[in-house]
Amino acid sequence: MTVAPSPAAAPSFNRAEWASAFQNVERELSQVPLSAARGAIPPELLGTLYRNGPGRLERGGQWLHHPFDGDGLICALRFGAGAASFSNRFVRTEGWLAEEAAGRVLYRGVFGSQKPGGPLANAFDLRLKNVANTQVVQLGDQLLALWEASSPHALDPNSLETRGLSLLDGVLKTGEAFSAHPRFDPGHHGAPRMVNFGVKTGPRSSIRLMEFATVDDPERGIQAGQLLSERRDSFAGFAFLHDFAITPNWAVFLQNAIAFNPLPYLLGQRGAAQCLKSKPDGQAQFWLVPRASGSYAGQEPRLIPAPAGFVFHHLNAYEEGDELVLESIHYADFPSIGPEDDFRAVDFEQLPVGQLKRSRIKLSNTGVQSNNSVQSNNSVQSNNSAQTELLSERCCEFAMVNPAKQGLKARYGWMAVAARPQGNDPLQAIKKLDLQSGEEMIWSAAPHGFVSEPVFVPRPGAAAEDDGWVLCLVWNGSRAASDLVILNGHDLSEQALLELPLAIPHGLHGSWVAGSAQ
Ligand code: CO
Repeated sequence: MTVAPSPAAAPSFNRAEWASAFQNVERELSQVPLSAARGAIPPELLGTLYRNGPGRLERGGQWLHHPFDGDGLICALRFGAGAASFSNRFVRTEGWLAEEAAGRVLYRGVFGSQKPGGPLANAFDLRLKNVANTQVVQLGDQLLALWEASSPHALDPNSLETRGLSLLDGVLKTGEAFSAHPRFDPGHHGAPRMVNFGVKTGPRSSIRLMEFATVDDPERGIQAGQLLSERRDSFAGFAFLHDFAITPNWAVFLQNAIAFNPLPYLLGQRGAAQCLKSKPDGQAQFWLVPRASGSYAGQEPRLIPAPAGFVFHHLNAYEEGDELVLESIHYADFPSIGPEDDFRAVDFEQLPVGQLKRSRIKLSNTGVQSNNSVQSNNSVQSNNSAQTELLSERCCEFAMVNPAKQGLKARYGWMAVAARPQGNDPLQAIKKLDLQSGEEMIWSAAPHGFVSEPVFVPRPGAAAEDDGWVLCLVWNGSRAASDLVILNGHDLSEQALLELPLAIPHGLHGSWVAGSAQ
């Protein structure tokens, strides 16, 4: 249903229903036919929605400290000719296989999950468990299950079977970081590309920026999945970069002002991500890295002071006149995860609110700045080269534009939001935001429904930017299982609701692959 934003101040959710999504997935299903419980599946919807997220949250009676430490579970919803089917399968990571065999937790997690036995059992165990749980995308003839701190896992796009760790035909070294947030350039320089990065962090951090072909080009001898270009740049300071954005000329990073104190991690008291803390006297920065085919190719990165706070995700970026515009979801502070906190009992009121903001960075003011000259945050010139404005007060996450507008000025964004216009609550609604006028449209699953990342799918042959559908997995607290809702991208009217034969925990990211499944 589409409703006008309501001024109601009271939260509209039941905590037990929200928390009931945190459970283990015990079954793997293959091509189970789905029918619409309400409405009808649009016959033109042709392709597969892939989705990743933690599917195992407890083992041997021990709950993980945070769902982000859970093993990656891939779901595939295939659509065609008005019908749909559902498949799901765990990524067979080294850690998943070992823990399945042992029946207990064998690894520490980055977000604070510990092996049994307290700090002594965990101290100096610095193995990373690659949980492959953050995003899933198609590149060439394989799916990649992504987790930012290590290499991707390659999967069969049809069966979802794990082929193994992938070094992308030798592009990556074993264990090399590869972000879970690739950006798909729709064709800024001819053929479409996948642009991604890996971060090696420390007192100085380096970013490896990589661009891959996503379609075969026999005339140029290029195959989908092939590396087309790369560059490496190093920056002063500890980098925590989960996401980035692209424009035709730039890869854009927002380096949060954050410090990493490794001692509690080394001593087995905290997970690595629990050792991150905002630096109150620190200076966040935009890092602009020139793309290989753009007008500034080969030049040094530009570093520009950024607003305080914390950003995980960006909506989009584009160039306008002499400005680079970046739209991001900002938090007032890093949402820390204390060692004593139970994630199922989180007090939403105590957490910072994610809000969409737009930063305008004046390229003409920045000039080329050698990154060697930036030895500390203090040496960054505080000038008027970036201005940031709030686009909407409502708590939001998981935002996207039409994929054809990736890196270009988009009129519309779709995102997961809270049902209330103010305050911090679980994500229960989908919002379409007119990025020009600020006009909002809301589809709400409250009070019993909890949404995940909405994925906008353009209608084949569509001319209008919002002509398509929004697909979203919804945790249905009433029946303690997951639904898939299909909304009209233009007015958010509900087209169909499919009741899935599975309970899927609150998840992370997903992607759409157009075309018929084989
Ligand atoms: Co993310």
